[in-house]
Amino acid sequence: MSHVLEESLASVLLTTLRDKRTRSPQFRNALHRLSLLLAVRACEHIAVETETVHTPLETVEGTYFEPRIALVPIMRAGAGMVDAFHTFLPEADVWHISMSRNPDTLEPEFHGSKVPRMIDPGIEPHNRICFVLDPMLATGGSASLAIQKLKDAGAQNIVFVGIFGAPEGVARLEQDHPDVPILLAVLDRQLNAIGYILPGCGDAGDRLNGTQHPS
Ligand code: PRP
Ligand code: URA
Repeated sequence: MSHVLEESLASVLLTTLRDKRTRSPQFRNALHRLSLLLAVRACEHIAVETETVHTPLETVEGTYFEPRIALVPIMRAGAGMVDAFHTFLPEADVWHISMSRNPDTLEPEFHGSKVPRMIDPGIEPHNRICFVLDPMLATGGSASLAIQKLKDAGAQNIVFVGIFGAPEGVARLEQDHPDVPILLAVLDRQLNAIGYILPGCGDAGDRLNGTQHPS
């Protein structure tokens, strides 16, 4: 099941990301602001508990987020989404996963991760929610592998959050991990012959970090 953002603000920010004239500082900023919108939506997936709170005037039923939270950015581009999620979820842990897509096979090559080998021994798996962060869901290979790494370590409650999705990537994730909700800013048209999202924004990691070739 995948959801996309409907707000006009999201489409304005997506336009900035798509525009090839947008340079890294503005690209980073638009990615951050879109990630704020996504973070608000992502919070809907976090279970809440109620507690009584005393205002200066009376008592009232309040709520708090129950589970521990992990942000799992897929490097490099996923790193550009972390600060936005921390704005609303400052207590969230960050478990980096490093991989890069092989340009010939389009398969992800795993370089390493800071996901704990065994997640939260001693606490119930439902008391941990993991948000996998990556702006680009293209073939879906990288996201699928990152989610598998989390599951291998014991995670059971996982949400994928991205900016641009391709139908091919959504289909792959739904097939490999039907239990994982997918939250995107936009679902684009298709992949091109070399695995890039159309219309997309080009190489997100390069544009975020200023490592793209000038065109
Ligand atoms: C990009 C992107 C995703 C992946 C998506 O990363 O950030 O991680 O490709 O493609 P997929 O859905 O086909 O797996 P890349 O491997 O280019 O590394 P980078 O973030 O360092 O640029
Ligand atoms: N990775 C990117 O950065 N962009 C794409 O369009 C596909 C994969």
